[in-house]
Amino acid sequence: MRVIRVSDYEELSLRSADLIASLIILKPDCVLGLATGGTPLGTYRDLIRLYREGRIDFSQVSSVNLDEYRGLKPNDPHSYRYFMDQNLFQNINIDPAHTFVPDGCESDPASACSKYDAIIDRFPLIDLQLLGLGGDGHIGFNEPSDCFIRRTHCVTLKEETIRANSRFFQDKAEVPHQAYTMGIADIMKASRILMIVSGSSKAAILRQVLEGPVTPAVPASVLHLHRNCTVIADEDALQCCDRLCKDSQFILP
Ligand code: GLP
Repeated sequence: MRVIRVSDYEELSLRSADLIASLIILKPDCVLGLATGGTPLGTYRDLIRLYREGRIDFSQVSSVNLDEYRGLKPNDPHSYRYFMDQNLFQNINIDPAHTFVPDGCESDPASACSKYDAIIDRFPLIDLQLLGLGGDGHIGFNEPSDCFIRRTHCVTLKEETIRANSRFFQDKAEVPHQAYTMGIADIMKASRILMIVSGSSKAAILRQVLEGPVTPAVPASVLHLHRNCTVIADEDALQCCDRLCKDSQFILP
């Protein structure tokens, strides 16, 4: 696992957008695994800027998103489909037919999950999977558990996740309690993983991810087992990792 230490959120956003942009330049028909949440907003803003400057072209890119709230329609302003449309897809020249998000309206969980697995399986691989880090260590919506769940599944969100995500809703009571998420095996199959972590509210959990054992109780810890995983984290997020190297870039064994 390679860790890149950056000064703040702005630098994190620039560095992650540059990394994704390099992939698009080298492989114009790449498949991007994309994430929602507050952290990737700056990355998406910078990707839109690079696109407007004529430096990247999304016309051949495909995207597969990590997750979606169960029960929300695509045009619901709180759905992750809506988030992606507003914050990225509508501002670049990606073909909407090549963008995939789990179907939150599919009421039968087994069917929703197998349909999304079939979409993921259409692609030979995800070239780069972008991840945020949940406050309890979740990636996508893979919540802490006693085992890693391999493929797309319906998850009941932890109270901490509902509370953290309620900032995007008018009221906590509006936050759906369930979601569909890509599984850990799908995430780990990506050729390259990029996790971005910002702010002091993530410092304690980032320490567990970087310094603790690999355990499904801290889902992001599984990333230690990936052969090409980069974590970009800012000083605030790394503030509890005092035992780790202070260099701007270092490799964790
Ligand atoms: C949600 C998403 C995750 C995201 C997490 C952290 O739960 N399902 O993919 O990583 O939020 O979000 P934020 O970046 O807002 O802290």
